Amino acid sequence: MAVIGITDEGETEDMGVARLNLDDQEYEFPVIVGSEGEVAIQSHALRSLTGAITLDPGYGNTGSCRSAITFIDGEQGILRYRGYPIEQLAEEASFVEVCYLLIYGELPNEEELEDFRARLRRHTLIHEDMKKFFEAYPPTAHPMAILSSMISSLATFYSEEEDVDLHVVRLIAKLPTIASFSYKKSIGQPFVYPQNDLGYAENFLNMMFSVPCEDYEPPPVLARALNMLLILHADHEQNCSTSTVRMVGSSGASLFAAISAGIDALSGPLHGGANQQVIEMLEAIRDSGDDFSEFVGRAKDRNDPFRLMGFGHRVYKNFDPRASILKGAADEVLAELGVDDPLLEIARSLEDVALRDQFFVDRKLYPNVDFYSGIIYRAMGLPTNMFTVMFALGRLPGWLAHWKEMSVDPDNRINRPRQIYTGAGARDYLPLADR
Ligand code: CMC
Repeated sequence: MAVIGITDEGETEDMGVARLNLDDQEYEFPVIVGSEGEVAIQSHALRSLTGAITLDPGYGNTGSCRSAITFIDGEQGILRYRGYPIEQLAEEASFVEVCYLLIYGELPNEEELEDFRARLRRHTLIHEDMKKFFEAYPPTAHPMAILSSMISSLATFYSEEEDVDLHVVRLIAKLPTIASFSYKKSIGQPFVYPQNDLGYAENFLNMMFSVPCEDYEPPPVLARALNMLLILHADHEQNCSTSTVRMVGSSGASLFAAISAGIDALSGPLHGGANQQVIEMLEAIRDSGDDFSEFVGRAKDRNDPFRLMGFGHRVYKNFDPRASILKGAADEVLAELGVDDPLLEIARSLEDVALRDQFFVDRKLYPNVDFYSGIIYRAMGLPTNMFTVMFALGRLPGWLAHWKEMSVDPDNRINRPRQIYTGAGARDYLPLADR
């Protein structure tokens, strides 16, 4: 029976050691404290000292790295990028500024920002040969699958020998082009090339919604909403897709391979794919005329795999600050656009019902970032299957920042977890005829 005790000398850098008693032997492990007082027991020597490993399915309690990019306090509902509160960035910053902040560590001054924007503008086009790839996908292909394959394909156009910063800029500049091309392909319209005199959000909206036969000017309200949504998604420390990027990168695979893997991880319904699922769930509630009792009842039924999509979070046990911002923004954006979407009312009522239900109260399940974002994307005219692509556009700078941090971290080793084997013992192979 093992007992872990942390010394009670206070929350400081010299916090001391954690003592582990295993089979009547005592072992000591160093304790480290992060800049916001988070405590970790350094356990990498555990196996060599004791022969035992830690078992933590889903890594709910395992720190995989030290990181100076994003701080989350899930109990207090705090989220900060490089120290800046998410509320201030969402209200005042541009997405390009936030990209710079996450990747390079500080907010840019005017000159640095202009230089960064100029570098992005230089790389918005994709190689003309890549357009041929789009022709081969079936019309029903999910844009997340296309996005991931196209990013993986970038590795065939650009050499690994080139400067990593150039790849970073290429990815931020090209992702909107690839995302919008996959949408245009799915609706059978001609691709719209990037227009470099437009801002990041305006250029993306132009590539998505303009057609050669009509004038189109990206509405400022849409550009502002998109800017805010992308900032809210820009980083979230060691989530499933970001950890995937770091894990793939830890093997020395190319940046394009790591980002492509991150996109695939994000596509799952428990992660970024939830924003699409939320809208589909709200539509199902609307179509069934349910007063929420059936859907909430199913979410509480332990024998039913159904969950309330857009609810719950591994880290937030209070509210998700991004969801609070989005709830207010949904009202404003829909009002400004003159959109009256019954799904917004259904979402608000569902939130009220769930937050008063003991099942959700006991488990501290609150709306997460995906609960209200889909309603705004819908009002902006984006098709449901593009919602997770929007999440990927937003999350890209976070992935890039983590990849860069990982690649220069002296503690970085190839990621290689252990396991507890529960299979058959050693046995002899039997030829087919004897089985
Ligand atoms: N509806 C109903 N019950 C839930 C839900 C939900 N949405 N989320 C968690 N629970 C229950 C779960 O069944 C478990 O109950 P019990 O203790 O009785 O077994 C308890 O709450 C704890 O859940 P968990 O699955 O152990 O929590 P987790 O940290 O492993 O999973 C989660 C986190 C986000 C995957 C989960 O809450 C979930 O599936 N939510 C719905 C999908 C979703 O909205 N995902 C987006 C997450 S935020 C953006 C992002 O990360 O991309």
